[in-house]
Amino acid sequence: MFLLKDEDRIDRHRLFKFLNAEDKTYLINFQKNFPVKKEHSHPLVLPSGIKVLVLGIGERVKFNNRKAMLTGRRLVSVARAEKVRNLAVNFDDFLARDNRENQKLLAQVLATQFEMANYEFVKYKTPQPEGWFFVQAIEILTEKQNGIKEGVEIGQIIGEEINKARTLSNTPGSDMTPRVLASEAIQAGEKYGIKVNVLDEKEIQELKMGGILGVSKGSSEKPKFIIMEYLRGGRGEKPVVLVGKGVTFDTGGLNLKTENGIYEMHMDMSGGSAVIHTLVALGRLRVKKNIVGLIPAVENMPSGSSYHPGDVLTTMNGKTIEVLNTDAEGRIILADALEYAKKYKPRLVIDVATLTGAAMSALGQRASAIFSTSDKIRDRLVEVGESVGDFVWPLPLWEEYEEDVKGTFGDVANSGKTRYGGAINGAIFLWQFIKSSSSVTSGPTPLASAWVHIDMAPRMTATENEFLAKGSTGAPVGLLTEFLRKF
Ligand code: BES
Ligand code: MN
Ligand code: ZN
Repeated sequence: MFLLKDEDRIDRHRLFKFLNAEDKTYLINFQKNFPVKKEHSHPLVLPSGIKVLVLGIGERVKFNNRKAMLTGRRLVSVARAEKVRNLAVNFDDFLARDNRENQKLLAQVLATQFEMANYEFVKYKTPQPEGWFFVQAIEILTEKQNGIKEGVEIGQIIGEEINKARTLSNTPGSDMTPRVLASEAIQAGEKYGIKVNVLDEKEIQELKMGGILGVSKGSSEKPKFIIMEYLRGGRGEKPVVLVGKGVTFDTGGLNLKTENGIYEMHMDMSGGSAVIHTLVALGRLRVKKNIVGLIPAVENMPSGSSYHPGDVLTTMNGKTIEVLNTDAEGRIILADALEYAKKYKPRLVIDVATLTGAAMSALGQRASAIFSTSDKIRDRLVEVGESVGDFVWPLPLWEEYEEDVKGTFGDVANSGKTRYGGAINGAIFLWQFIKSSSSVTSGPTPLASAWVHIDMAPRMTATENEFLAKGSTGAPVGLLTEFLRKF
């Protein structure tokens, strides 16, 4: 694999010296006749029979870490298309001014990208007689010794867990019910010292989680509340709690979605699958921290027993939710989960949810929206996301917006009053369950520590030209794993 910036000469490339004289002449002539301009790929078979892929990667001055990550995925997708099972790449080809300082991290990030690009959800397709084609091995050549190998090993683990999260998310709704999601959490956790406890409907009732019970009413699939505890930190160390939205299928309920809107809604548990596999990744990396994962899992269905627009639900917190729209179900189940999180006296709570289409209207499909009570933690997450290619971008969490989620017949309304600022309204709604309540005198505990909300709807599914298979992206497993390793 030769990665060439526009002005690079192929005979100066580190891999060139491994070729025989005839192959060398062939490549020099090739570059004379076909100057490798822009981001073109040239699969070539040399006179000796060796296959080489020459990839243009644009101008040197414009090359940066973001392009390096994209190039990592591009080369795997070209290799797959060309049915190249084993390939060698030169590590230095990926160095740029903004990533050469930390080469161990670059190695890690590249390994993750390679894994991600080598994934496709084929479980439900009949294989061709010769089987599915995946790259078997990538040899990363480097003369440097500073932690590259270790970085690659870490990055590979993270990439594998990202791909497992994608598989859970990609699984069709009929095969990925709350019960199945819970059993997947149990199976994933047991190997890596993660204690998994699943609360059933009766226990959810005992906890008075009226939000979860309300949303799940319309479905014949019973709700589950999944609790994962990874406690490898000090005894006195306060945990970080991750909360993932686990709507295994979102029809919208009685406010039924349209044909376009309902498509892909089996992936509405992507926050949950991200939490499960972030915990597993941390376990496999033997991170010495206390991390808890909470996943309220429900199916949002219209039926004779569905919750109705206008219903008022009483959450575990004590606050009531006026249901204006049964399709704004994610925030309702998260309200109960955020209240439950306070039991752990966490130092930080991060929730991850495919919460609003409005987040996609705001940001497109390249970054998830991030909101936080702590500017410092939010900025750190933006920075980590940038370094590992799992992007988040801030939107405001300002009290002025609280007007927009006030209820008429309940404390909080589950949708805004206008069609503007939908992603912000979702965040502001959740914030009400993090804060202590002024309208209820006993009961809810305020959360003293920091809170982060990631609306990952923009990154639920892969978009064109990012060299990822159609379907789930596995976001934000990469971001959370890297952030928590160092937090
Ligand atoms: N799961 C959806 C949001 C979503 C839409 C995620 C598209 C990924 C892709 C969520 O439950 C929802 O339906 N939100 C509503 C909220 C509205 C009714 C206030 C939305 O975004 O329209
Ligand atoms: Mn919905
Ligand atoms: Zn939803």
